Amino acid sequence: MYHFEKRKEHIKMNILVVGGGGREHAIITALSGSPRVDKIYAAPGNGGISRLAECFPVKATDIEGMVELAKKLKPDYVFVAPDDPLVLGMVDRLNEAGFKTFGPRADAAVLEGSKVFSKALMKKYNIPTAAYETFTDADKAIAYIKEQNSYPAVIKCDGLALGKGVIIAKDFSESEAAVKSMLLDGKFGKSGSEIVVEEFMTGPEVTVLAFTDGKTVKPMISSMDHKRALDNDEGLNTGGMGTIAPNPRYTEEFKKECEEKIFKPTIAAMRAEGRPFKGCLYFGLMLTPNGAKVVEYNCRFGDPEAQVVLPLLETDLTEIMDAIWEERLDELDIKWSGKSCACVVMASGGYPEKYETGKAISGLDENGQSDKAYIYHAGTKLEDGKFITAGGRVLGVTATGDDLRSALDKAYAAVDTISFEKAHYRKDIGKRALGD
Ligand code: AMP
Ligand code: GLY
Repeated sequence: MYHFEKRKEHIKMNILVVGGGGREHAIITALSGSPRVDKIYAAPGNGGISRLAECFPVKATDIEGMVELAKKLKPDYVFVAPDDPLVLGMVDRLNEAGFKTFGPRADAAVLEGSKVFSKALMKKYNIPTAAYETFTDADKAIAYIKEQNSYPAVIKCDGLALGKGVIIAKDFSESEAAVKSMLLDGKFGKSGSEIVVEEFMTGPEVTVLAFTDGKTVKPMISSMDHKRALDNDEGLNTGGMGTIAPNPRYTEEFKKECEEKIFKPTIAAMRAEGRPFKGCLYFGLMLTPNGAKVVEYNCRFGDPEAQVVLPLLETDLTEIMDAIWEERLDELDIKWSGKSCACVVMASGGYPEKYETGKAISGLDENGQSDKAYIYHAGTKLEDGKFITAGGRVLGVTATGDDLRSALDKAYAAVDTISFEKAHYRKDIGKRALGD
């Protein structure tokens, strides 16, 4: 089915990266540092990305449009970074058209695309996660919640919902409203036509991204996201307002436990199901009093986790892509710097609800960068040589340091020099991790 030539060392690679957020900017930055990379293309990209990659206005979810673009550009790899195209089968279509890819095929991306699938997989293979039941009938779900009589209750849409399909309901009436919004009112469309009701877990959350070729799994440096919009974890859930790596709560003991009870069994389970997962698998974990448990799987790099993990990667990302594609990840020794990294997201005022765009950003140089930190662009546009806001999350201001405190100090010092109208950012990224 595939018709690729074996890699020739003297030929430099051209890579097309699908997506246009801070995560993609971090991936492109890592690729641009590789001596093996020649040209980088992005679709759709953004203002900051356009300084490193040639951008093409093809939507990340436009499968046929992306295949056509790949046919035109003939890249050596297509790196599919966001969840929606992976779940929709973009990798499958690109492979059929003869392109090498980074990212799972649709039958493996279902690990993120369907919570009903991922919960059933964990149950079947004894992978620790919250106890649960699934429902398509609202009355049955409501009767189950009443019978459990345990609050908060956690109610989740089966499918992708931009991170908004999880409701932590504090009492019966909130639970009932959540069930109705998903199953009866169709608030989440098809994603909410089946739901998962699960046990509420407590404990620190840790993200572990892992490279896998479907056989071997190589976890990356751990990280911690800050999902709520406001300081002290108040306000609405967002895509993520900041991250730090490594996560100090992820001790050597937890690391061993997760590798044996969660990471390896998940990869083996997907393989046993005939759905080998190749790419980056995101383990959203909770370190509960009863051990580490899976909160969620994502089928891709986290955003903004990639922004703090990739700067610590010392191995050439293209070497890892080759090892995964050729299913020889076991042979590769992946190296990490011993430093810490922090990313503070500057968002448009009002995000994740209504916000304005088109605001001029000050404090960036002509490349959209700063000499004080690395600026990953999440939602920007370049207009007449000036960067303007173009999304909810706008910039991920990122710095490394010998320890977490120095990384955070550098990132916040850079944030102080950047501004746009109604900019909003959290002042407490990393605070909990430092134990302040
Ligand atoms: P998810 O999209 O499944 O990661 O859920 C979003 C957020 O909701 C997670 O990062 C957790 O903070 C929280 N959450 C999800 N499931 C649970 C659970 N079973 N118990 C407690 N919190 C949860
Ligand atoms: N930062 C959470 C995610 O990428 O899903």
